[in-house]
Amino acid sequence: MTTALIILAAGKGTRMASDLPKVLHEIGGAPLLVHAMASGQVLSPARTVVVAGHGAEAVEAAALRHDSAAEVVRQTEQKGTAHAVAQARPALADYQGDALVLYGDTPLIRPETLERMMQARRDHAVVVLGFEAADPGRYGRLKTEGDTLLGIVEFKEATEEERAITLCNSGVVAADAATLFDLIDAVGNDNASGEYYLTDIVAIARERGLGATVVRCDEAETLGVNTRAQLAEAEAAFQARARAAAMAEGATLTAPETVYFARDTVLGRDVVVEPHVVFGPGVTVEDGATLRAFSHLEGCRVGRGATVGPYARLRPGTDLGEGVKIGNFVETKNAEIATGAKVNHLSYVGDARIGARSNIGAGTVTCNYDGVSKHRTTLGEDVFVGSGTMLVAPVTLGDGAMAAAGSAITKDVAAGDLAFGRARQDNKPGLAARLFQRLREAKAGREKES
Ligand code: UD1
Ligand code: CA
Repeated sequence: MTTALIILAAGKGTRMASDLPKVLHEIGGAPLLVHAMASGQVLSPARTVVVAGHGAEAVEAAALRHDSAAEVVRQTEQKGTAHAVAQARPALADYQGDALVLYGDTPLIRPETLERMMQARRDHAVVVLGFEAADPGRYGRLKTEGDTLLGIVEFKEATEEERAITLCNSGVVAADAATLFDLIDAVGNDNASGEYYLTDIVAIARERGLGATVVRCDEAETLGVNTRAQLAEAEAAFQARARAAAMAEGATLTAPETVYFARDTVLGRDVVVEPHVVFGPGVTVEDGATLRAFSHLEGCRVGRGATVGPYARLRPGTDLGEGVKIGNFVETKNAEIATGAKVNHLSYVGDARIGARSNIGAGTVTCNYDGVSKHRTTLGEDVFVGSGTMLVAPVTLGDGAMAAAGSAITKDVAAGDLAFGRARQDNKPGLAARLFQRLREAKAGREKES
């Protein structure tokens, strides 16, 4: 069955007390909106329409960054959820198939749940996602008879009896797109909020002899973010889920509750993640790699069997080959470090390529920035860079070259050559002893005077 996603994201999110549109606040390093789009992705949607309003330009940019095929339509005035869905109609004028309505501020709905909804769609014209609420608060209440959904009543409209219902509306709805828009046409705004309620389509469908049903999910999935506290709650829920998934897929997390994942983190089999490792967006770790404690990774690939940290920082554009070793207090950025190379201690490697098996000594720095532009450092294979070396880019060291410890390397070094880039050492016989003697005598003289 073909499905189009309609994602409602026009609301302001007043209670976030923020200049950023609510759906652009992040959990797992990605906007709430992107989580909603991604959970819908399981249905391989033919179309994705995002309804933007407050901060529409920024919302549009974020939507397109995640999915360049998404369409963003505007809802200039927020007149309710049915009115919001109606804004997607022109974009879907040439579309035939199902439509699934999601909220951009509800990031935790499991893909499997949406699959169950689409299965239920085979037998029912309208499918609503509901949940048993521990505290039903102001949610819309689902009125059911067995599996049949009779109607949805908004809290403001509900009688005491209806308010006692604990089965609540998540907001997620599936129906044939043409049917959905037809039903919405019949929705009015004669209610306590003066809004066009999407929830009214259930009663209208039944009046027209169309069947509606409810698919239930865990309340945790329907958590909508309205406040910063709920944002933190959603983050915690996301992290718990990501940790469990990483372990289920074959990674060892020594202290899972201390590891922070991004939405798109990919860990291979038998990866070991020690305590307090933080993943920013865009990290892939291949099979058998070890990430040691207190390391921070972002926008990078860690090759098979590589070791990173403790206390390493891998920044965007880092690409580590198989078996690479990155040690403590090493920072890398936009750096390709090939198979078996080692950067073991206290170094900065930026805008660089390090060839296979090369060894970078402690305290080495690629001086990549001249105050105006960035420049590249290129090292061949089997290069040895002595400790405390400044590689002043642009600079190239050929295969098997060496840089003496403490060098400032400003000129290219050919393959097999050794470069000394430091002052020549000059030893003065006995001078240290004589100097110490003189200094001690001077100190003793000063103490006598005072
Ligand atoms: C809605 C449901 C309610 C359900 C609850 C679940 C309706 C009438 N009510 O209520 O039954 O229990 O969600 O959280 O549908 N939006 C727009 N444009 C609008 C209005 C809303 O884009 O004109 C977006 C909001 O940004 C938000 C979502 O739709 O992402 C839900 O809107 P909101 O006003 O929060 O609905 P609730 O009153 O919470
Ligand atoms: Ca809401």
